[in-house]
Amino acid sequence: MEVKRPEWTSHFSFIAATVGSAVGLGNIWRFPYIMGKNGGAVFLLTYLLLIAFICIIPLCCELTMGKIYKKDAINTFSAINPKYKWFGWLCIFTVTLIPCFYFVVGGWILNYIWVFLTGNLPDNFAVYFSNFSSQIFMPCFLTILFLILTAIFPYRGVNSGIEKANNIMMPAFTLFLFILAVFALTLPGAKDGLLFMFKPDFSQFDKTMILTALGQALFTLSIGMGTILTYGSYMKENTNILKSAYTLIICDTIIAISAGIMIFPIVFSFGVQPSAGATLAFISMPQMFSELPFASVFGLVFFILLFFASITSGISMMETTVAAFMDNLNISRKKSTILTVFIIGLISIPATLSFGVLKDFKLCDKTIFDFLDYTTSNLFLPFNTLIICLIAGWCIPYFWEKAFGKGFIGSIFNILLKFIVPFILICVLVSGI
Ligand code: PFF
Repeated sequence: MEVKRPEWTSHFSFIAATVGSAVGLGNIWRFPYIMGKNGGAVFLLTYLLLIAFICIIPLCCELTMGKIYKKDAINTFSAINPKYKWFGWLCIFTVTLIPCFYFVVGGWILNYIWVFLTGNLPDNFAVYFSNFSSQIFMPCFLTILFLILTAIFPYRGVNSGIEKANNIMMPAFTLFLFILAVFALTLPGAKDGLLFMFKPDFSQFDKTMILTALGQALFTLSIGMGTILTYGSYMKENTNILKSAYTLIICDTIIAISAGIMIFPIVFSFGVQPSAGATLAFISMPQMFSELPFASVFGLVFFILLFFASITSGISMMETTVAAFMDNLNISRKKSTILTVFIIGLISIPATLSFGVLKDFKLCDKTIFDFLDYTTSNLFLPFNTLIICLIAGWCIPYFWEKAFGKGFIGSIFNILLKFIVPFILICVLVSGI
């Protein structure tokens, strides 16, 4: 029996869900430290140009494919041509691997929420983080807890689960972020933090920065895994693709920049290196919060913020896999969610343990966690995006008219879709390999 495909009940729900998918650890945790490592303002400028003129193309492609075919990723590509079904499976493979490391960080966030809630703050967060993440039981338990909390929403369905979660969590997230950013601006390091972010020093520019910025942009927009395609398949007939895509990009960018405005003044006020790296959120930031008046309150707000960001993205990753399993294995939504939880749970345990007992177990010289992060973000993501552009640009007649409209902008974007974006993605891939 054919079940009617669900639809977002309003345009706001559609935007909240896609922004919820896009805004995640990539914005709050990854973006500031990558920017810190790549020279601040010049990186920001490169990133903005790439996101506005390059990433908009595959983003529109996924949304349009979702809108036209109204199917999960696998059936969409096999509807375009049965020969492309394997590519749909590759998207599902990629989007199932990402939560296997992403949810490990989700587990850490739950732990830090508990720490700031109880007010039992350690003296030294560097020692604390290393002790905690290398344990066996607690990190695994929290990764699985985060996985189950996330799964509740796809389990309940598009309207009563996913839509409600995003409609509540995304506005709350934005409010918390602005409160922290405004607070950060009152600190003594605010001026240096803002100068670091907004005053470009062009001597820092190099070509690897372009590639890093592009990888980050694809990751943050959740492109190349069928997620946006799946969310697009629930959109209403009269939704304008180009407008929605730019709304998504603008919201995602404002949030990433606000995350920087929240983090860099704090970093400069406490004399931490802005390039401190991935540990910025779990060592430097909590350490700094613990030295402020009302430490527990600020720390708690920061980690609840990270929690909302990561769970709304996690929901979108899981929904992509759940929708694909439902439609291709002919099982109910509930069974499909349980199967997805089982697969992610199985792979995320070794990824969690790669900070402790499995830290010497290496794949291509990387721990399991780093291997999953590296292969999905630097290889599968640009590769999948390249194939999406090639299929959209060369295999679906008049696709560009449906995606970008017939006017002047449409024709320019068509050239970008057919030639320029694939060329850039090939460069990214080659450098990634
Ligand atoms: N865009 C999310 C972030 O910036 O954290 C990550 C993400 C979400 C990746 C959804 C993949 C995905 F399917």
